[in-house]
Amino acid sequence: MSFQLSSALLSQPTPFYHYNLGLLDETLTALQQAAQPRNFQVHYALKANANLPVLERIKNRGLGADCVSGGEVQRALDAGFAPDHIVFAGVGKSDAEINLALAADIWCFNAESAEELAVLDALAGAQNRKARVALRVNPNVDAYTHPHITTGLAANKFGISLTDLPAVVAHLGSLPNLELVGLHAHIGSQITNLQVFAKLSERLNDLQTALTDQGHHLPHLNVGGGLGISYEQPDTHSIPDFEGYFSMFERHLIRRPGQQVHVELGRALVAQCGTLVSKVLYVKQSQQTNFAILDAGMTELMRPALYGSYHHIQNLSSQAPEQLYDVVGPICESSDTFRKAVLLPETQRGDLVAIRSAGAYGEVMSSGYNLREKAPAVYVGE
Ligand code: LLP
Repeated sequence: MSFQLSSALLSQPTPFYHYNLGLLDETLTALQQAAQPRNFQVHYALKANANLPVLERIKNRGLGADCVSGGEVQRALDAGFAPDHIVFAGVGKSDAEINLALAADIWCFNAESAEELAVLDALAGAQNRKARVALRVNPNVDAYTHPHITTGLAANKFGISLTDLPAVVAHLGSLPNLELVGLHAHIGSQITNLQVFAKLSERLNDLQTALTDQGHHLPHLNVGGGLGISYEQPDTHSIPDFEGYFSMFERHLIRRPGQQVHVELGRALVAQCGTLVSKVLYVKQSQQTNFAILDAGMTELMRPALYGSYHHIQNLSSQAPEQLYDVVGPICESSDTFRKAVLLPETQRGDLVAIRSAGAYGEVMSSGYNLREKAPAVYVGE
C-alpha cells in the first residue's frame, strides 16, 4: 500500500519527517530472523538516523551501536546502549572523541592507520586503560555502487591497505595499551549486487589465514554494512533482502571456532520507515517544463542533490490525471531538485507531497543553509 497520512497529521506544519515505527519493528523482526539463526551480531550504524525513538527501538532488540563521532558515541550512551555494545569507527577520530569513548569503556575502536594506533595507545595509557582494537582493512573490492559511497577501493581514504596490514599488526603488538580483537572492513553503501560480499569474504579469508599463520588470534570479524534498499518500489519491497545478505557471508566467510561475526547495517534498517512530507508552494509553468516548488529542499533531504539519487515521490492530495513536473525545493541552488520529469497527478498549491525512503541519511544530513529551520519529526505506530 502506498504512503498515507493520518487525518490528524493533515494540518501538521510542513515540511516534516514522518517515521513509521511499526514498519521499523517489522524490519527489525525480519533482520533478526535472518541474523540470529546464523549467529551474526548486528551493530546499527547510527549515522543513518540517530533519532532517539528510532534508537530506543533498535536498542530494545539487543542490537549494538556503530558510531563514527564523539557525538554518536554520546547519543548511543544517551539512548541506553550498553558501552560493551558500542563500536567507534572513523578515519579521523579527534583526541577529545577518543577520550570520551575510552572513558565510557566502549567495546572496540575500529582503527584505520598506524598513526591512529599510536595516538590511541597514548590516550589509553593516560587513562590507565587497555583499548580493544579492530583493524579496518581496505580490501580493494569494488561495491558497484555510487562512487561517492564506495569505500573499499584502494583509491578511497578508508582502511589500511592489504600490503601495509602485516606491518601495522606488528606495530600494534608493540603498543602496551592496545589489544587486537579483530578485523573490520566496509566496502560501501546501497549495495544491491550481493555478489560483492562473496568477494569481500574471500579477501577476509585470505587475510585471516595470513594473520593466523603469524600467530595472531582474531576473536571478531566485522564485515561492515552496506545492504541496499529499493528506492524505486518502497511499497512492494519495504523489507530489504536480509536473507540474501547474511546467506552470502554464511556461504563464503570462513569462521574460526568461536569467532564472532559482526555486521554494521544502517540504511537497510531505517530507510523505508521514513518519509519527508512537504507542501507544494507554487506550480510554475516555464517554457520548458512545469515546476512543482515544494517547501522542502536539499536542506531537508540532500541525497538527490549530492548523489543524483532517486526517491519515489507521491502527491497525497490529488487524484487528477497525471502530468510531468520537475519537483524542486526553495533553496537558491539549481541542484535543489528532487527529480526531473516526475509523473504526478495534476498538482496545485497546497498539495501534500511524500518523498519516500528518506529514513536513512535524510534528517541526519539536513543543513541550515539559507538559515532554514530544522524540520521536525513525527512518529506513528508507537
Ligand atoms: N560502517 C561503515 C564504516 C560505514 O562507513 C557505513 C556507511 C556503514 C557501516 C553503514 O552503511 P549502510 O548499511 O548504511 O550502507 N550518505 C550516503 C551514505 C553514506 C554511507 C557512509 N557509510 C547516502 O545517503 O547514500
